[in-house]
Amino acid sequence: MEGEPRPIDPAGNLYLSGAFAPVDDELDLVDLPVAGKIPEDLRGVYLRNGPNAKFPPLGSYTYPLDGDGMIHGVWLADGHARYRNRYVLTKGLQAEIRAHRALWGGIMTPAAPSPELAGPDQDPGGDKLLPGINIIRHAHRFLALAEGTPPYEMTEELATRGRYDFAGALPLGMCAHPKIDPASGEMILFRYGLEEPYLTWAVVGADGRVTRPPEVIAEIDRGYMIHDFLITEDYLVLVINPATFDLARAAQGAGPLAWEPERGTRIAVVPRKDDRGKIRWIEAGAFWCWHYANGWQEGGEIVTCFPWWSHLSLGVPGAAPATRSLARARIDPAAGSFRLEVLDERPTEFPRVDDRRQGRPTRYATFLHATPQALEHRTYDELFRLDLVKGTIAVHRFPGQAIGEAVFAPKAGRSEEEAGYILTFATDLATLQSTFVILDAEDFSAAPVAVVKLPRRVPLGLHGNWLPAQS
Ligand SMILES: [Fe+2]
Repeated sequence: MEGEPRPIDPAGNLYLSGAFAPVDDELDLVDLPVAGKIPEDLRGVYLRNGPNAKFPPLGSYTYPLDGDGMIHGVWLADGHARYRNRYVLTKGLQAEIRAHRALWGGIMTPAAPSPELAGPDQDPGGDKLLPGINIIRHAHRFLALAEGTPPYEMTEELATRGRYDFAGALPLGMCAHPKIDPASGEMILFRYGLEEPYLTWAVVGADGRVTRPPEVIAEIDRGYMIHDFLITEDYLVLVINPATFDLARAAQGAGPLAWEPERGTRIAVVPRKDDRGKIRWIEAGAFWCWHYANGWQEGGEIVTCFPWWSHLSLGVPGAAPATRSLARARIDPAAGSFRLEVLDERPTEFPRVDDRRQGRPTRYATFLHATPQALEHRTYDELFRLDLVKGTIAVHRFPGQAIGEAVFAPKAGRSEEEAGYILTFATDLATLQSTFVILDAEDFSAAPVAVVKLPRRVPLGLHGNWLPAQS
């Protein structure tokens, strides 16, 4: 290809080396060695997605948005564990496998191959889809999620079925962080676009059919990067931080993303059930948020808790490192107010709660925390268990290791919020050997209940879920 960006050297890229380095083998192993005892009531699979570039990327590699998706699964039943990992075999990745090299440029250096190289059977638009951010199960479908494009459907055993657009009802795709309402089973989602429509939301019923087709938020007149959102029983809340896309800016070689703090943050409080169009808008100062732990209603207020960032630095040319803190926000739609309260000043990310409480009052949230040593490597080495009622943080340390997002798995027959296990991957930074760790959430700082030895390193990745066996 003429003018094609050159492959980058993975060894020189922090996010393509060490604990982040991709793995290329697809393994199946049963009866993994276990230290401790896997609880008998843990029956199901923990699936986790993350970027895993199969070939040296062309031009640029922007973690965590670039890279082929790879899903790692740990199945637990009767005290035994098995492991399997598979690529999400997008049309683009299949073309690259045929060519034995990367064909598409990174998101900051867009370039597409000629139709002869790509082959005749590609995803619409000629882009390579990147469903490497999250993996969910809804209405018995397993969906590997990208940001703003259609998901790829997988089987429970991680074979790729193909691009999925909800029987044509969501042709433009969805966000990577949809919310499943625990009462109705509905999946609520949004999507931002770099072109019109710039922001939409939609609802998928518990049976997998789209019950509310994409509705445009008309007040948004340009592309904003929005990674996550929150739902409550009555609302969905879209927090629009001032991270903007401009394709004209990108065409001039400045990169497509900019941070424009003078725009402030705008918050759309959208009624989930009432008449359409009655959105309450609330203004706040500029900040950035990747992920919200959860959202819920308390009296007339909407409450959320999240890692607050001073600004977006990822992908923004010349941006200084951001500062962060752990914050709680209270949004009052009637008064039009937004109040922010700092709960802790240490750097955290990847908040998760007991998903049975999605959109409902929540006491506990688990975060990854980076000590100064881990921060140097852009990794995390402690789990924080925040108790929002007591205002305390319990800590579980993983010295010398790098850990991933920690998810909650309920104990059988127990509905209380604290009654469950915390699951995560951990990688020893000296040996680069990974384990799957099971903690008892009711005894959070105690030694793990079980540590499953994995056959090799599982690269640091992004999001996943514990999916209990349904039989
Ligand atoms: Fe995310």
